[in-house]
Amino acid sequence: MRFSVSILALAMAGLPLCAQPPAMFNVAARHTISLNGKWKTIVDPYENGYYDFRMQPSKNGYFRDAKPASPSELIEYDFDTAGQLDVPGDWNSQRENLFFYEGTIWYRKVFDYAAKAGTRAHLYFGAANYEAIVYLNGEKLGSHVGGFTPFSFEVTGKLKEKGNSVVVKVDNRRKLDAVPTVNTDWWNYGGLTRDVALVEVPATYVSDYLVQLKKGTQDTIAGWVQLDGGQLNQAVTIRIPEANVSATVRTNAQGRAEFSIAAKPVLWTPESPKLYDVTVAAESDSVKDQIGFRTIEVKGTDILLNGKSVFLRGVSIHEEAPYRGGRAFSPADARTLLTWAKEMGCNFVRLAHYPHNENMIREADRLGLMVWSETPVYWTIQWENAETFANASRQLAENMARDKNRAAIVLWSVANETPVGPARNEFLGKLARQVKATDPTRLVTAAMLHHGDSTPSNGQVDVIDDPLGVELDVLGCNEYIGWYDGLPDKADGMTWKSSYEKPLIMSEFGGGALYGMHGDKMARFTEEYQENLFQHQLGMLNKIPFLRGTTPWVLMDFRSPRRALTNIQDYFNRKGLVDLRGNKKKAFFVMQDFYRGKAGM
Ligand code: GCU
Repeated sequence: MRFSVSILALAMAGLPLCAQPPAMFNVAARHTISLNGKWKTIVDPYENGYYDFRMQPSKNGYFRDAKPASPSELIEYDFDTAGQLDVPGDWNSQRENLFFYEGTIWYRKVFDYAAKAGTRAHLYFGAANYEAIVYLNGEKLGSHVGGFTPFSFEVTGKLKEKGNSVVVKVDNRRKLDAVPTVNTDWWNYGGLTRDVALVEVPATYVSDYLVQLKKGTQDTIAGWVQLDGGQLNQAVTIRIPEANVSATVRTNAQGRAEFSIAAKPVLWTPESPKLYDVTVAAESDSVKDQIGFRTIEVKGTDILLNGKSVFLRGVSIHEEAPYRGGRAFSPADARTLLTWAKEMGCNFVRLAHYPHNENMIREADRLGLMVWSETPVYWTIQWENAETFANASRQLAENMARDKNRAAIVLWSVANETPVGPARNEFLGKLARQVKATDPTRLVTAAMLHHGDSTPSNGQVDVIDDPLGVELDVLGCNEYIGWYDGLPDKADGMTWKSSYEKPLIMSEFGGGALYGMHGDKMARFTEEYQENLFQHQLGMLNKIPFLRGTTPWVLMDFRSPRRALTNIQDYFNRKGLVDLRGNKKKAFFVMQDFYRGKAGM
């Protein structure tokens, strides 16, 4: 009964209904056998490895990883002689003939495994873009939809000592009913784009936990612990030695226990990103984490970090790999990108437009950068499609589940630049309420649009009155005055109005420049044009009394199929303040100077 009630409760709160098991949590703290490296791959544009000639799922698809039993047997694929791709990594940037490829590629890895008594094994994927079907030794384990969140399947008892074959069908085709939909301004990098590993845990293990400051307090650490396995009723101790915290609770018959512990931790801030060693120790399992404690709230049009007003000095970032291009995935990629943001004077980053890899969030925790994390509900989603909503809701839930203990994350964003309308307002309202129901300790936002309201009497006015604002704690707004909207000096006379007594983050503004291209400041794509645009922009932004953050578009140039201008764009969006090699454009220093003036505000 409880389960059916919980389904109803989920539906009422717009929470994800699908029973997809949650992905393995805090994998970095577990004993893992990495499956990263070279995987054999078969490019399959007609999905011939999945369907028969009548487009019915075949029993003898490539997932069988079969070999002819005799010279006369006909099998028209062979992973052993097939090409290979690096995992993690997108396929587009690994092979010239896959640069524009959108379709299915089959991946196969063979590995040995020595099962250990009392140990369970899970096959974990950091992400696969966009739809993955996973097979082990010819048996379908399951599937996952969504290109930017983790998933895993328990394989205990399914592994052989020698020669296990894991086969993954990855299909990155864009679809109208998908999340995102068919039109985006970023490259549709397909593949096993993040880490793959076997994760070993005890028979009953700590499968999930929340350890954060209780909402509205700085002296109570609260949360819950969840066990998974046969011995669900155990004593569990939460230890934070440096904060003099050690509390023991007993999990119930469902393996869950809540706790609330008096504590006075040193608070996490960008200037001093204090992380504590936290141990969650059950009788049968123990897991470690590094967790920071801070509060984030809004008060009128202000944003308060640990009770103090803070201006979010940010920059937007796509998950584009510095230097090499392609999907970023590694700790080194994260350190490079976030260090460039720190050099600009940032205390905040908007990780657009989808959940970035976990390394990026962990690095932001360590470096002291607050994070706006976003679900890829981007542009013209199918608002009236229930499956599309369930997909968006699940991706949001998976993102929030993975990163719920990360101090860096202060904002969950439910959308980017979506058109106002009844179906969209309802769709996004449910997502916003899902955020609040799931995680009341963080703020909910979205990057919205504005519209002009200029008249001879009141001059040039732009207005933020999107009805979605009612559901948000913080308003995000994208504007391109000086690039898509007039020339740079149009910003000079612009004033801004909002329908809400809420803080605003100007979540996108900027213009393109090819690094090293110099000329007149009115010549598009010169560094001087971009520099001039930012100078006019910042003059305007400084006059907005309810502005509490900025994330100019964008830290680094990134690939997009929409940017075809030969010798200038070459399928790169050039609005980066640095180029792919980290060369800082003149506008970078305009932002750096602006943030010097905002530091401490
Ligand atoms: C939009 C959108 C971005 C896009 C940018 C641009 O605001 O949110 O994803 O890249 O504009 O046009 O460069």
